[in-house]
Amino acid sequence: MTAHEYVSRNPANLTDVVATIALGDADALVRAARAAKGAQRAWADVPAPVRGRVIANLGRLVEANSDALAALVTREIGKPAAEARGEVQEVVDTCDFFLGEGRRLYGQTVPSEMPDKQLFTFRVPVGSAVVITAGNFPVAVPSWYLVPALLCGNAVVWKPAEYAAASARAFAELIWRAGVPAGVLNLVFADGPSTEEGLDRALTEGLVDKVGFTGSSAVGARIGELCGRHLQSPCLELGGKNPMVVAPDADLDLAVEGALFSGYGTAGQRCTSLGTVIAHADVHDEFVRRFDDALRAARIGDPTQDVLYGPMLDERFADNFEKILGWIAGHHHVLGPVGRITEALPRNGFVGDPAAGLYYHPALLDGVRPGDEVFEQETFGPIVGVTTYQTLDEAIEKANAPGYGLSSSIYTNDPATAFRFRQRIGAGMVSVNNSTSGAEAHLPFGGNGRSGNGSRQSGVWVLDQFTRWQSMNWDFSGRLQKAQMDVATVEPDLDYRLA
Ligand code: UN1
Repeated sequence: MTAHEYVSRNPANLTDVVATIALGDADALVRAARAAKGAQRAWADVPAPVRGRVIANLGRLVEANSDALAALVTREIGKPAAEARGEVQEVVDTCDFFLGEGRRLYGQTVPSEMPDKQLFTFRVPVGSAVVITAGNFPVAVPSWYLVPALLCGNAVVWKPAEYAAASARAFAELIWRAGVPAGVLNLVFADGPSTEEGLDRALTEGLVDKVGFTGSSAVGARIGELCGRHLQSPCLELGGKNPMVVAPDADLDLAVEGALFSGYGTAGQRCTSLGTVIAHADVHDEFVRRFDDALRAARIGDPTQDVLYGPMLDERFADNFEKILGWIAGHHHVLGPVGRITEALPRNGFVGDPAAGLYYHPALLDGVRPGDEVFEQETFGPIVGVTTYQTLDEAIEKANAPGYGLSSSIYTNDPATAFRFRQRIGAGMVSVNNSTSGAEAHLPFGGNGRSGNGSRQSGVWVLDQFTRWQSMNWDFSGRLQKAQMDVATVEPDLDYRLA
């Protein structure tokens, strides 16, 4: 392996090399941005309904290749088979939504304040976009950017996560085969520093009109600064510290099921993963008891099998999780063993061979409180904290305290509690009697605060990321009619009162 090579391994079996890729440098990213810029005009000239057909083709191709693509996702990042199939379905759903948008992309006709003059609005493609994605959803989250960006007539440079390189390459291949020209979608592999340097240079050369980034809040802040210097507002989808409030009237078994899926599914490595359960003092002990029982009974291990979760995505996520486990403090009540699953620290009922991959025990910490790092920071691993509350105001204050604002959830059957929570929670997404994870592909997805800059993906809302509004006025009066100044006036009698 040379310095510019990256080996993507199966995290469930580290001897299995999934792909070896050549990493590009900053120049490679600039070259790709130049190619995108050069190809964009012709792509924008393809009628939108025809671009919609290309997206339809992509949906059908992904469907026809779904088993192979899902199996590759499982092999490359260790996502359990059922979830990987769900992820591929999310790509199909995204294509299904946008193929029809090719026949809409509506603008408006708007009345003028003057006679014989007509106003219009048009959606125009932004231009060329650089899309930088994480590898925890190696095909679904990229599709949230790539599908609408291409549909709207933009060209794209896609820089996926190296540790999900084979999945990215497979998805890109399907996009090209669906009919997207090579220069319109450009795939670049590069490490973080080269990507940032290349992006800086490409922005300076005027080759980039939009940046989409999914990843950590720290890197998102740097991308935001860089784009801001070029007067651009990126689409940022960052971390989360997603709370789940368990109200005194909650169905506790349902809440436990939701906490298990969102806290530990994908080994806690979703941006929508559950961070902290905020359980009412009256139900806290019973909730923790049932949650702990469910966690002990959960199947963990080989992701090709029916398991709650498999390995960490990649070595670097395992290393980071080791650091996070160091945040566990003396006042936390830790239920069950914590750390890597090994022969010396085994997991009852583990599925497969723990020594083959990057497997960790699920950590459940009771007694977390504001000020703790595990309460304040995203943890990106199989760890969930629990705290209590007395009043709904206190629960909402604790839910908002870390300053993220991606997803949130409340378990209650009381409408007033559910709506009060919705009004005051800072999150972009709110679930009632459902977990923090599992967004559907056609609702706005995105966060506030440390989770993002307010941009939204998915559904019609993402069109505002990949198009800009152009307004047009057409005066057919044959005169210069000056807005505000040449407008007919109507004299009302505002002193009139009914007797
Ligand atoms: C992410 O982790 O970046 O709602 C996205 C969910 C998934 C998407 C998560 N559909 O959990």
